[in-house]
Amino acid sequence: MPDTFTGSAPGRVNLIGEHTDYNGGMVLPAALSIGLEVALMPRKDSAVAVTSNGYDAPSIRDIDDDAVGEWSDPCVGAIREANAVGMLGGGATLDVHSTIPEGSGLSSSAALIVAVLKAARAAAGDGPNDIELAVAARRVENHYIGVPCGIMDQMAVALATPGTAMALDTKTLDYDLVALPESYEMVVVHSGLTRKLTDGRYSARKEECDAAKRFFGTDDLCLLDRATVEAADLDSIPRRRALHCLTEHARVKFALAAMKAGDMHSVGALMNESHASMRDLFEMSLPEIDGLVESAVEFGALGARLTGGGFGGCIVACLEQGRRASWLERLLAKHPQGRFIDAVGA
Ligand code: GLA
Repeated sequence: MPDTFTGSAPGRVNLIGEHTDYNGGMVLPAALSIGLEVALMPRKDSAVAVTSNGYDAPSIRDIDDDAVGEWSDPCVGAIREANAVGMLGGGATLDVHSTIPEGSGLSSSAALIVAVLKAARAAAGDGPNDIELAVAARRVENHYIGVPCGIMDQMAVALATPGTAMALDTKTLDYDLVALPESYEMVVVHSGLTRKLTDGRYSARKEECDAAKRFFGTDDLCLLDRATVEAADLDSIPRRRALHCLTEHARVKFALAAMKAGDMHSVGALMNESHASMRDLFEMSLPEIDGLVESAVEFGALGARLTGGGFGGCIVACLEQGRRASWLERLLAKHPQGRFIDAVGA
C-alpha cells in the first residue's frame, strides 16, 4: 500500500470586492468553517482515480485527459500541475470529502485544487510556499479548466485563517489578515440558484473588462480615475464594467478602514452600495438575488450583497451577534428557496 497524504482547504466568502481581482484591485474574502479534505496516494501509472462524498460513482481519468466539464476536472488539472512543478511523478488516487456546496460562489473549485496541491506537497515533502501554490492553482483554472478567473479564491483558500478577513491586493499579492469584529457576524445564505463559472457568463464579463482595458491602455481598471472613465468616448457596456471595478476597489479600501475602526454601520452601507453596483453596472445579479438582499436588509442586516462570481450562489449579510435566528426565520419564510450556509465572525 503506498502512503496516503492529506491536504485541506476551507471555502471562502468574499465580504466585498467583486471582479476586482483580475482588474488590478483589492478584495476582502474570509475563510468559512465549511471546507474540504483530500487524501492522496501517489501512483506510478498516469491514472487519476477520484472518489468523493458528493458523487456516487468514482471518476477514473488519465493525467493527459483534457478538461471535459466533469466534477473531477479540478483534480486532474491539479495532478497535472503537481507533476509540472515536480511534486509528483505520475497519477494519483484521491478521496475527497467536501462540505462546500458547488456552484454557490464559495470557491469549491479553488478549494479542491488547493487541497490536492497541498496533499501533493506533503507527498513531495517540500515544494512551493502557499502563495506560489495559490498561483499554481489559478493556472489550473485559467489554462486547464478554462475559467479566466483572478487570484482571490486561490489566495483566500490557501492562506486565510478562521476569524479574519484577508485584505488582498491582487496586483502585488500583498495581504493583511484583519480581525473580524467581535459583536457582528457575516452570514452566508444560499439563494437556491446555482451556477458554474464555466457557463460563459463569467468569461463574458472578463471580455468586457478586457475591452475597457484595451481602450484605456491599462491592465488595472480598478486604478483608473472615475472622471476619466465617465468622460471617455467608450461604449456603454465596457464603461459600466470599468466604473464598477474602480468604485468597488475604492469600497474595499473604505470597508477595510471602517472594519479596523469597528464601524460596522459603514461596512454595511458599503456592502449595500457594492450590491447596487454589481446589479446595475456589472449586471451580475438576478432578480431573485436582489430580492433576497433587499429582504436581508429590511429584516435587520446592516448591509448585504451578492458574493462571488455572480449569476447565482450566495449572499453575505452583516448582522449584529444574537440576531441571526429570528432574522433567518423571517428571511427564509419570505424566500423559501434560500438556505443558511455558514457564518463568520471573530
Ligand atoms: C470568482 C472568481 C474570482 C473572482 C470572483 C468575482 O469567484 O474565481 O477570481 O473574480 O469570481 O469577484
